[in-house]
Amino acid sequence: MIEQTAVASKLEQAYQLRCVGCGQVAADMRQNLRCLSCGELLEVIFPAWNSAQRPPEMQPSALKATWKQRRGSTLPQDESGVWRFRELLPALQPGFEPITLREGNTPLYEMPICARIAGVETLYAKHQGMNPTGSFKDTGMTTAASFARQEGYRWVACASTGNTSASMAAYAARGGLRSLVLIPDGKITWSKLSQSLDYGALTCQLKTDFDGCMKVLNDVVRRMPIYMLNSMNPYRAEGQKTAAFELLEKLDWQVPDHIIAPGGNLANSSAIGKAVMELYELGIISSLPKISVIQAAGANPLVRTMRENGGKKLVPVQAETMASAIRIGNPASWRKAVRILERTAGTVEDVTEQEIALAKAEIGAEGIGCEPASAVTFAGLKKLVRSGFVRKQESVVLVLTGHVLKDAEYTLKFHRGDLFEGDLDQKESAALARQQRAPIVLEATTDAVLKALEQAEKKL
Ligand code: F0G
Repeated sequence: MIEQTAVASKLEQAYQLRCVGCGQVAADMRQNLRCLSCGELLEVIFPAWNSAQRPPEMQPSALKATWKQRRGSTLPQDESGVWRFRELLPALQPGFEPITLREGNTPLYEMPICARIAGVETLYAKHQGMNPTGSFKDTGMTTAASFARQEGYRWVACASTGNTSASMAAYAARGGLRSLVLIPDGKITWSKLSQSLDYGALTCQLKTDFDGCMKVLNDVVRRMPIYMLNSMNPYRAEGQKTAAFELLEKLDWQVPDHIIAPGGNLANSSAIGKAVMELYELGIISSLPKISVIQAAGANPLVRTMRENGGKKLVPVQAETMASAIRIGNPASWRKAVRILERTAGTVEDVTEQEIALAKAEIGAEGIGCEPASAVTFAGLKKLVRSGFVRKQESVVLVLTGHVLKDAEYTLKFHRGDLFEGDLDQKESAALARQQRAPIVLEATTDAVLKALEQAEKKL
């Protein structure tokens, strides 16, 4: 008994939940995951890191060596690209194992063709779509679902544009939890919907948009003991931080000038920002990258907030974009994102539907591919180079958030020329047409195929 109390108080010192609004440290989380005093979001902080007497195992060289060494291990916690960095994550209590699908460990790709198109010398893509359920959500879900199980919840729930729900359903199933999914009816892709069904979630398609689903979910969790796994959950951000840890480790802890992330509910960009600030605080990196956030022009509340009032008050919008993952008008984590933009001197930009489609095809033609919401990063980069915010010789990392197979319908429509009907100017149509590769239906003869090859050869 005495021993258990000692362990508990050590863990309490290891991390705390603090409100991003009023700064108060929370003793507990309400079910809507907000501060009891002011209603703002919470974040995990590690007060012990500020101490002048950090233990030797928390020194930069020791941490780097530990993380590297774990890459050769076959323990589930070490095989996970998230839990491999567990010194910088909130710890589960003794006796609780993480729920892991061996998430993380995603590639950092060089992108020479896209670099040339954008006009920069060094361009990488950190492809978080290469996670077990095909999106970056898995890195945050392994941490938050593990804490849900530790808290003793039977049910977990989320509102989603499709990727969170796919990921949550998978991790709940792996962890022996039931899951409730609220998605906007008809507004998420078939592949994402099919994932949540296959992983056994109770899937409810609500006749509203994402923001409407979020409202209903907030009500449901007030009335039932269900644990919310939306990105406001502070444990989600902790796992999502590891994308930045991984990419910096791959670059031998040399900091790129820019990291560019897509913005929806604005949790991912905030998590990446939190990660680099923590690495900086711990002396693992010696400067901060500029973190910029790109949104679709039809779903650009952060862009409007920064442009119209410098980040003081959210400007919600009625969201509309074919990049359905980021069709969000009232983002929960906007305050966290503003703080990251300010601290890292990043910027915001928005991009049109045509710019997104072209960027997605260009990333595809590099042999990489991603879903439309991820392609906003490359479309945004092109604009940031044109405006001079990103300079030619600077190094840039794009965060690609979802796998190309997450939205095959969009890709097919693009290549068949069915994505946009009628409202393109000539220049835009020509740029898109250059990337289009519609399938060709032929008679089943060798001659027909050889002729198609000949014609393709002439086009090059
Ligand atoms: N990219 C993809 C592929 C996404 O699924 C999302 C968000 C984002 C970018 C934006 O990330 O919200 O942290 O700013 N998808 C959520 C979902 C909202 O429900 O799947 P964010």
